[in-house]
Amino acid sequence: MSWIQEAELNPVERLCASILKVGPMPEHVAFIMDGNRRYAQKCRVERQQGHSQGFEKLAETLRWCLNLNIREVTVYAFSIENFKRSKEEVDGLMELARQKFTRLLEEQENLKKHGVCIRVLGNLTLLPVDIQELIAQAVLATQSYNKCFLNVCFAYTSRHEITSAVREMALGVEEGLLKPSDLSESLLSRCLYSSSSPDPDLLIRTSGEVRLSDFLLWQVRS
Ligand code: FPP
Repeated sequence: MSWIQEAELNPVERLCASILKVGPMPEHVAFIMDGNRRYAQKCRVERQQGHSQGFEKLAETLRWCLNLNIREVTVYAFSIENFKRSKEEVDGLMELARQKFTRLLEEQENLKKHGVCIRVLGNLTLLPVDIQELIAQAVLATQSYNKCFLNVCFAYTSRHEITSAVREMALGVEEGLLKPSDLSESLLSRCLYSSSSPDPDLLIRTSGEVRLSDFLLWQVRS
């Protein structure tokens, strides 16, 4: 399944979209894509099938966001904690990522047409090297597009993101580029992986749980 599905909505979906557009629209929506394993269990299918269907839902959601002119979408695709799952599940998720980023590179014309810039946020050094290379190619190929932005959080946790930002500021002080008094909330925000994005207006957790699970702790205000 492709990342960016052709964006035509059917008449019922068009009606829903036009009703939604009457109200204020979010500029940036973030998603915690969970519930895949519960879905697989409920449907009595393999766990990997649950994750693949989760990706299909993501592509469907991106189609909606494009149609609703939502400029920025951030998805929690794989957390650093997820590396603690069984080898079989982690390998399955890495293989899914490999296939999907390869597909993304094949779909460059479509990304260009819709002006979609892809960013991948996280500790990418934790990923297999071939996936790091695919991600780098996808990010480079779309870096000049600016109609909408898709941020994929992969090997991400917010605590890691904030710790890296603090380390970067500490390094700045150590090297004499910053004074301790320069450190501020706004400087820390600028050192985060998400520095190019406005904070999300809306966070959706697909399974209905009400927890942040170490996702965008700095960026989401209650
Ligand atoms: C959490 O649901 C979901 C994941 C750990 C993986 C989500 C990833 C995808 C759908 C694929 C995304 C891939 C790319 C390349 C963007 P869960 O497994 O924790 O399910 P549960 O909440 O039922 O336990």
